Amino acid sequence: MSMLTIEPGKIPTKDLHQFILGAVAPRPIAFASTISKDGQPNLAPYSFFNAFSSNPPILIFSSNRRVANNTTKDTLRNVEDTGEVVINVVSHSFVRQMALSSVEYGAEINEFEKAGFTPLPSEVVKPFRVAESPVQMECVVDQILPLGEDGGAGNLIICRIVRMHIAEAVLTDKGRIDPDKIDLMGRMGRFYYVRASGAAVEEIMQDVAAFGIGFDQLPAGVKQSTLLTGNELAQLAALTHLPNAEEARAVLQQRPDWQVLLESGDTESLHRLIRELIAGGAAETALQLAVLA
Ligand SMILES: Cc1cc2nc3c(=O)[nH]c(=O)nc-3n(C[C@H](O)[C@H](O)[C@H](O)COP(=O)(O)O)c2cc1C
Repeated sequence: MSMLTIEPGKIPTKDLHQFILGAVAPRPIAFASTISKDGQPNLAPYSFFNAFSSNPPILIFSSNRRVANNTTKDTLRNVEDTGEVVINVVSHSFVRQMALSSVEYGAEINEFEKAGFTPLPSEVVKPFRVAESPVQMECVVDQILPLGEDGGAGNLIICRIVRMHIAEAVLTDKGRIDPDKIDLMGRMGRFYYVRASGAAVEEIMQDVAAFGIGFDQLPAGVKQSTLLTGNELAQLAALTHLPNAEEARAVLQQRPDWQVLLESGDTESLHRLIRELIAGGAAETALQLAVLA
């Protein structure tokens, strides 16, 4: 792979910013509701955001100094003044309204009104919840950590959840959040977003206590295959037992026709069969064949 290599400080901040946004993506969006010390509601999206701890329950988002003129934002001033914020999640059903709320309206403007959101009183903190959002987290601000003084510098707003509200409509019958029902949006670089439901969602089950044999134990024939991908090989390497030759031969009792394929030396057809078996959920059988090859 030919690489573009960047030394921060040697390119304009706005360009570095875009490379970071495009690479560290998709990012969840904190729809941050705050209130000024005079009682003026404020709402803005922040995608320099994530969860960092469950006990205590900590969310962190960053309100950056503007790259263009090094000014700071209403949300930052409000959390400095009041120490409270409600972080709401962003679903596809109101993503355009969320985008409208990101316009740099003055501090006197209430983005709930501008972008058509319904303010819902919180139980513990003063800022409103966004009624349209399926998950609303009332937070107190534990700490604000400025990361620099120049344009583009972040200010980490470290928040502790004191109350969490989850719409029952987004829960499965087992009471867990269903990705298709919550239908979250993620932010990427430039004007790109991702909708995290439907075909975009993939289930990858990896038991952390199941010690897979690893790539280093894979038979050389498949490891060096130009056909099988890293993802396919990983499904063989995740199996916890490498069959010996005798165990592997058992597969030929069910499929004597595979003996012919093995003896033919047609590696491409063999690797295609291994691929099909992996795709069909028969990785153990695929590994038996790989051992015999
Ligand atoms: C999806 C999305 C994510 C954003 N993420 C951030 C962010 O992480 N940090 C930031 O400083 N600005 C971010 N912005 C820009 C702010 O939302 C924008 O500057 C807004 O006007 C700030 O509002 P405020 O002054 O009311 O806090 C984002 C905008 C959008 C649309």
